[in-house]
Amino acid sequence: MLNPVVAIDGPAASGKSTVARRLAAKLNFTYVDTGAMYRAFAWLALEKNTDPADRVSVSGLVESAPFELTISGGAVHMKLDGRDPAPFIREERVNTAVSRIAAIPELREKLVIEQRKLRNLSPLVMEGRDIGTVVFTDTVFKFFLDADPLIRAQRRQQQGQADTVANRDKVDSSRAVAPLTKAADAILVDATYDDADMIVEKILRLCRERGLSAKKVDAL
Ligand code: DC
Repeated sequence: MLNPVVAIDGPAASGKSTVARRLAAKLNFTYVDTGAMYRAFAWLALEKNTDPADRVSVSGLVESAPFELTISGGAVHMKLDGRDPAPFIREERVNTAVSRIAAIPELREKLVIEQRKLRNLSPLVMEGRDIGTVVFTDTVFKFFLDADPLIRAQRRQQQGQADTVANRDKVDSSRAVAPLTKAADAILVDATYDDADMIVEKILRLCRERGLSAKKVDAL
């Protein structure tokens, strides 16, 4: 039997990370932040003075730098080019570069393969931009979180991050490969006004209605 996957997509600062993390904790599923993987490659490109928008150079990096995902202690751990990129992936320079590198098809192909493998290890709550449209099209637990752009920009500011949310959304939504878009069968969840816990409860209810049979869910 395949492990269940709850797919959560949406634009930057829509609140999907908080929601996905809490949902995973409630379900006892592994939380997977796929944005962190694109960020890791953006960081590596910057470290190596590679232009994140240059397809040939980035493809070279994708081929040559070993990338490893493991699950331990209920969390995903990354290793890229022999290092743990986690401490560096929220840097402002990474925020700026990541949408450009995320448009490179060779990188997307590589990461989609690695993301799919995680399902063999654990039930997942996976968040990103293309989880419902590309990575796990077959899951019936598919959600698209959205929120008013003004609210999203404010959220990033409150997190103390200089992040051009609107710019990133534009690049993410207009790229040729796996653009940010709601899957036809994803449930739209408006996160403008509701707080994260309310959204988690709503998604849990919808998962249960769709037959998520984890004992944990039934007990919630
Ligand atoms: O979720 P995030 O803001 O950390 O994602 C960083 C960038 O990575 C975002 O601008 C778009 C890209 N991304 C993507 O293209 N596909 C994913 N599955 C996840 C993130």
